[in-house]
Amino acid sequence: HNGKKTRHFLTLNDISAEELSSIIARAIELKAEVYNGTSKPLLDRKVMGMIFEKSSTRTRVSFETGMAQLGGHALFLSSRDTQLGRGEPIEDSARVLSRMVDIVMIRTFGHDTIERFAEYSRVPVINALTDDYHPCQLLADIQTFVELRGSMQGKSVAWVGDGNNMCNSYINAARLCDFELRIATPEGFGPTAERINAGKERIKICTNPTDAVKGADLVVTDTWASMGQEDEKQLRERAFADYQVNAELMSHAASDALFMHCLPAYRGKEVSAELLDAPDSPVWQEAENRLHAQKALIEFLLTQ
Ligand code: CP
Ligand code: NVA
Repeated sequence: HNGKKTRHFLTLNDISAEELSSIIARAIELKAEVYNGTSKPLLDRKVMGMIFEKSSTRTRVSFETGMAQLGGHALFLSSRDTQLGRGEPIEDSARVLSRMVDIVMIRTFGHDTIERFAEYSRVPVINALTDDYHPCQLLADIQTFVELRGSMQGKSVAWVGDGNNMCNSYINAARLCDFELRIATPEGFGPTAERINAGKERIKICTNPTDAVKGADLVVTDTWASMGQEDEKQLRERAFADYQVNAELMSHAASDALFMHCLPAYRGKEVSAELLDAPDSPVWQEAENRLHAQKALIEFLLTQ
C-alpha cells in the first residue's frame, strides 16, 4: 500500500473530461487489439472482486472476460453466498476484501453502500450499478457514439422514460462531454431537482417525448421498472404508456440519430420490437463496448 490516494469510480464525477476522453480512446485501442489478436496481459495476476447484490448478465460477463483477457482473474461474489448476505457490515467487508484483491466492483441498491465500501477500501472501487447511478454503462454508450458519430460535444441527446440511475448518469455525462440533454419523463418520475439543477446549463426538461426527441442525435431509454421496483411494474406500465421509443418517435429525431438502450430491453414496453431489432441497431455494439470500456477503466484505475 503506497499511501497515494486511491481513485474510485463511483460516478462519472470521479473523473475529469480529459480522463474520460483518454479512457474512451484507450477502450477503442483495446478493442482493436482483441480483434487483431494482439491483446497483452497487462494485468498479470491482478484480481478483481465482483460483489453482486442484484442480477446481471452484461456486467458480470464483461468484467470477468475483461480481467481474463488482461491476464488477471475475477471473483464473482454474490451477496447470497457471502457473509454480506448474513449481515457482515459493508465496512468490514471492504477492509478485508481490499487486503486481498487489487480492485473491487460492486452492484448494489443504495448508493451509500458503495460510498461506505469505498471509504474503507484500500483498492479502487467501481460502481457497477446502484439505485442512483450506472457510470460504466455510460463509458460504453459514449464509446459507441464516438465510434459511430465522433465526439459528443455540442450534440443533443434525448432521454425518454424513467428518471432512473441511467438518466442520472446521462446528466453527469452531459457536463463531462458537453452535450445538451433533453429529458422527458412522466410527472413524478423525473430526476431530482437537485440533480437537474447541478446540470442545468445543459439540461432541458420536456413535457412530452416528441419535444425531447426533436432533432436529437441520440435517443436513449431504459426499462420502466428497474431492479428493486418489481412491485411497481404495473403502475409504471400505466404511467409510462405514452413514453415508448419507436419508429414514429424516432422520426422526429435527426435523420442519422442513434437509438441506445443499456439492456435488458422489454419489447413492446419502453421500446418497440421493430426499433430494437432494426438491422443497424447500435445496442449490440453498445453492449459489447462494456467489455472494452471497462478494461480501459480498470487499467486507468490500477495505474494511477
Ligand atoms: N446493462 C447492464 O448493466 O446489464 P446487466 O444488468 O445484464 O449487467
Ligand atoms: N435501470 C436498470 C438498468 C439495468 C441494467 C436497473 O437499474 O435495473
